[in-house]
Amino acid sequence: MKQTKKIPLDLGKNSYDIFIGEEIIDQVGLFLKDLSFKGRVAVVTDPKVEGLYGSRVKKSLKKAGFKFILIQIPAGERYKTLKQINRIYDSLIQNHFERSDLLLALGGGVIGDMTGFAAATYLRGVSFVQCPTTVLAQVDASIGGKTGVDHPEGKNLIGAFHQPRFVCSDPAVLRTLQKREYRSGLAEVVKYGVIADEAFFGYLETHSKAIRDLDLEKVRHCIHRASQIKAEIVQADEHEGGIRKILNYGHTIGHAVETLTGYRKVKHGEGVAMGMVAASRLAVELGLLHEDDVKRQVKLLTAFGLPTRLPDLDPGDILEVMAGDKKVVGGEIYFVLPKNIGSVDVMKVDKKVLKRFLKALPKYV
Ligand code: GLY
Repeated sequence: MKQTKKIPLDLGKNSYDIFIGEEIIDQVGLFLKDLSFKGRVAVVTDPKVEGLYGSRVKKSLKKAGFKFILIQIPAGERYKTLKQINRIYDSLIQNHFERSDLLLALGGGVIGDMTGFAAATYLRGVSFVQCPTTVLAQVDASIGGKTGVDHPEGKNLIGAFHQPRFVCSDPAVLRTLQKREYRSGLAEVVKYGVIADEAFFGYLETHSKAIRDLDLEKVRHCIHRASQIKAEIVQADEHEGGIRKILNYGHTIGHAVETLTGYRKVKHGEGVAMGMVAASRLAVELGLLHEDDVKRQVKLLTAFGLPTRLPDLDPGDILEVMAGDKKVVGGEIYFVLPKNIGSVDVMKVDKKVLKRFLKALPKYV
């Protein structure tokens, strides 16, 4: 077995570790034991992930002496709703789960966000742990305690900050992801290079083919470095009062595209890829960024098989969805805009400028 790496995330009494290593999904019971946890576990997962990894997680829990139940919710962003949260509560109540028990999220970002939200609210808060099984969940969603559900008017409009007790990221489980799902997650990996680490962006460029084809050694490095950057940012700003906002790079337009296409046609990472390129083009228009740095991103995202152009949507509709986003402050739309590869600024952008820009965007075809 490869060595397990540990990234400590220091948040005072909410501190925890992120464990990264191949096949560590079999150690989740041991990690729980190391916390001196003694209660029962509710494993929350979807049918597909359960079929792939449920038995290994159950075996690990059993071996470590834990009692558990399994709660299944359907897979997919369109099920990230309060209705599904209610189904989790129903199972917890029927099984008499208490404050000293714990929820374990086994799955992608949707499962992690919903399990975390159920844990944040059930009995006014119980513990939970994250076993992310997608790239997106490993490098982003599982770290930092953002939990919640979507509303028809926008993504993640309902939620709570609730930190997990640990994160158990096993890059080997990424092998069973569909190609499109895997590559979609790579958009978030690229994001970390642009917002914080040019050398890491260079690593992604150099090894783009190996990473796209899931060379585990390279992918392990990507998960590790991306998780490290995320941990540093969350550590500096747990509740997104400042620097944490930079993690939303590519998400302002990306979320609008996801919402306008009904969370069906465009995967989250694909929306982020399009959103990053659009934000970069906006940064060029505003005189902040050199065109070459847009080209580098387009080249890398294309090498990862990701879309870099927005679908045919009405600029007015995009603007309207963006105006309803939770990142809006005082009715103003804020953008994370790169200054070069490795550093970004958060800036207010005038709605008229934005509308003009969105109208002109197809000219970059
Ligand atoms: N996914 C953005 C954040 O965790 O802040």
